[in-house]
Amino acid sequence: MKLRKRGYVGTTSTEMSQREKDNAILAREAAAEGFVLLKNEAQTLPLKPGTKIGLYGAGAVRTIKGGTGSGDVNNRYNVNIYDGLKNAGFEITSGDWLDGYDSGYMQARESWKAEIFRKLKEECNGNFFEAYSTTPFSMPAGEPVDAEAAKADGAEVGIYVLARIAGENADRRDEPGDYYITEEERAQIAALCEAYEKVILVVNTGGLIDLAFTDEFSNITAILQFVQAGQEGGNALADVISGKVTPSGKMTDTWALDYMDYPNAAYFSHKSGDVYREEYREGIYVGYRYFDTFDVPVRYSFGYGLSYTDFDIKVTDVSKKISSKGRPSFSVSVDVTNIGATYSGKEVVQVYVSCPQGKLHKEFRRLTAFEKTKLLAPGETQSLELITDLYHLASYSEEQAAWMLEEGIYGIWIGNSLSEAVLCGRFRLNEDKILVQCEHICPLKEKLEEVQPDKEKLEEKQNAWIQEANKEQLPYFRIWAENLPTATIIYQELQDHYPGRAGEIVDQLSTDELIALATGDPAKDQGASALGSAGQTVPGAAAETVNVAEKDPYNVASIVLADGPAGLRLRSEYQVREDGSIDGGDFLDGFENGYFAEPKEPTGTVYHQYCTAIPVGTLLAQSWNLDLMKKLGQMIAGEMNEFEVTLWLAPGMSLHRNPLCGRNFEYYSEDPLLAGMMASAMTLGVQSVPGCGTTIKHYACNNQEDNRMGSDSILSERTLREIYLKGFEIAICNAQPMAMMTSYNLINGVHAANSYDICTKAARDEWGFEGAIMTDWTTTTDSTAGECTAAGCMKAGNDMVMPGDIRDHASIRQALEDGSLDIRELKRCVYHTVKIILQSNQYEDAVSYEDQFK
Ligand code: BGC
Repeated sequence: MKLRKRGYVGTTSTEMSQREKDNAILAREAAAEGFVLLKNEAQTLPLKPGTKIGLYGAGAVRTIKGGTGSGDVNNRYNVNIYDGLKNAGFEITSGDWLDGYDSGYMQARESWKAEIFRKLKEECNGNFFEAYSTTPFSMPAGEPVDAEAAKADGAEVGIYVLARIAGENADRRDEPGDYYITEEERAQIAALCEAYEKVILVVNTGGLIDLAFTDEFSNITAILQFVQAGQEGGNALADVISGKVTPSGKMTDTWALDYMDYPNAAYFSHKSGDVYREEYREGIYVGYRYFDTFDVPVRYSFGYGLSYTDFDIKVTDVSKKISSKGRPSFSVSVDVTNIGATYSGKEVVQVYVSCPQGKLHKEFRRLTAFEKTKLLAPGETQSLELITDLYHLASYSEEQAAWMLEEGIYGIWIGNSLSEAVLCGRFRLNEDKILVQCEHICPLKEKLEEVQPDKEKLEEKQNAWIQEANKEQLPYFRIWAENLPTATIIYQELQDHYPGRAGEIVDQLSTDELIALATGDPAKDQGASALGSAGQTVPGAAAETVNVAEKDPYNVASIVLADGPAGLRLRSEYQVREDGSIDGGDFLDGFENGYFAEPKEPTGTVYHQYCTAIPVGTLLAQSWNLDLMKKLGQMIAGEMNEFEVTLWLAPGMSLHRNPLCGRNFEYYSEDPLLAGMMASAMTLGVQSVPGCGTTIKHYACNNQEDNRMGSDSILSERTLREIYLKGFEIAICNAQPMAMMTSYNLINGVHAANSYDICTKAARDEWGFEGAIMTDWTTTTDSTAGECTAAGCMKAGNDMVMPGDIRDHASIRQALEDGSLDIRELKRCVYHTVKIILQSNQYEDAVSYEDQFK
């Protein structure tokens, strides 16, 4: 295997490359495909280009492209909504207000910066990241809107862009300015509604916000869930506003009527007053599983989204089948027709299943399959077959430590949202069946009261649909438990040797070399190990692995890891000094494109590394488009190759448990199947390119950002498996990501990073994970993390301690010496790491990771 020679990555040219131009087109397409049209009355949308628009709100000119922290991308430009609408030929009548907004914004940014530096000194002991992340920037509302002037401006419609910023290491607050609108914003919206008959609300926030105010203003005739759309957001919005693109996004979360309607609203994170213990008392009833089961009315249901056209979904067949992977399944075949007269559009067909309420209580319905149509012209029909693997209907029995299907009648629902789904068939399973026999993992150390639905009420609901199905004589089939296979998991023993070239290398390495390979490269860190700073060969990359085994005969490359998920996170520029060494800038250059750093004179030749800022995870998932995700993955991998990055620290796929989680924007959904499918598609895309891999994260139960390193997620094994591990399981089984990253938090008293159950039993033994596992950054060295050690990672099967610190080396060496760590445990970890490194794009003959599993 021949190692590739590393050069300086990026370009000295300031011209936009063809790759940048091509990728901008895809970023724009992806954004437009994910926006959800929540409301469209009085034929508000689309608007003809040329229409005069009164445009207001913080996000109009300072459109937020994504969240802060490691999920931020240092890209070349952002098209704001103001420019996007102008580019599309709309006439904006509120130019003065928008220009005025900008100067107020700049002042607010400067005060914010000053506050961060004050905190840095006075409260945060010099820890910039702490000061920065716990002081989220609050978008100023701007000047009041003059309703009289607006009335007279000749605009036919008003647009108000509500904007919020969030990021890692801090949860959001259910307060005005965050979850709620402020009085200033309310007054502006009221003025807009006074001035214009039709007002479009654009929601430019990473997570959900309160929309109850929209009920008070009947002139808000359209609402668009824009989320945060990457560098082409403004153009993409204009595409939808103008009707060039028909909206086809669907909600990946339930939008409640009131924050307090979320089942964990009162005790989530800081709300309980205790950020150390997080009791998952809602159990499996997360998101729509709660609202649908407990009959709590919602504002917009899971899976919901409007179009400019209408579709008819006709069920043509419901029957059992064996899937192409040879798995027992059932399929629903549909003909989807665009029955509108004017607009082409795409529809998302969703299958939900009601499982029998047996010994285990269950959610009323769960998503089991979905498909998006191609672009259908008016009158055009597409036939789709949606296949549900029966395993996705299983529930986890704690009593039996097994995934099982319970006997009874299963109802099959189909629709273009959960709220619109109709029953289309059912089947009977003759008796209980264990599909997978496991062992227990992550035991609860204390009693936890979980919410339970009213069994009688649920049975009534169940009987009602069964009767309806009988009356309608809906398709019916039987499944015989004896025809379904049972798998029994074999949990691995420690091995003396491992197979293949990686196994041979590990056998020959010295203990020191093994220890070095168990962590990222501390020499590259130089004390700046927070996000986006520990890579030097490719400035702005998050870390690199060591080169101790790069020599012959091992040829184990040092590989580069860079963040995501909204693109590839590198510094936008660096310099090469006269002696050929790289000046990647200092720590502060890594944040917000260097906004906090003092301007410096160039010390050498400037290299640019412009990567594409794509929409945030939630917006991507709202597309429900797996092909699009795959294409985006390929696009990102192209940039990874250009910048010599092997592992992308993305996609993020933790579950949306509560809308206040500061990092929800990076993640996909409240539903594990949807999250798992999206991560699979993204991974398949990235890994179809030789030498590139994804790192699915944060595994697992990373649902809160306040005290993220010290918070303990306390939950039942069933909830853990059915809700919080499920998406990871799906991504691994479908796509074999090259890597995964553990989360900072503890799970039932054990750090995820140090949990053998999480890293080895679940990921490897149960799901067959073949790649390498790594810690999140500084999990083992940050004092707020408490007892989480590098040696503990090796024991758990957490292969790479990141970004790497000499204290980690000491921890592993000490544990080997005192016998608490077996050298075979260390070798097992290094084997996993070497195995993926050998597949890296650092070799001239890299083969796509995907191909190796064909
Ligand atoms: C984040 C990770 C990220 C890492 C490296 C951490 O703060 O939690 O998601 O990949 O930094 O930048």
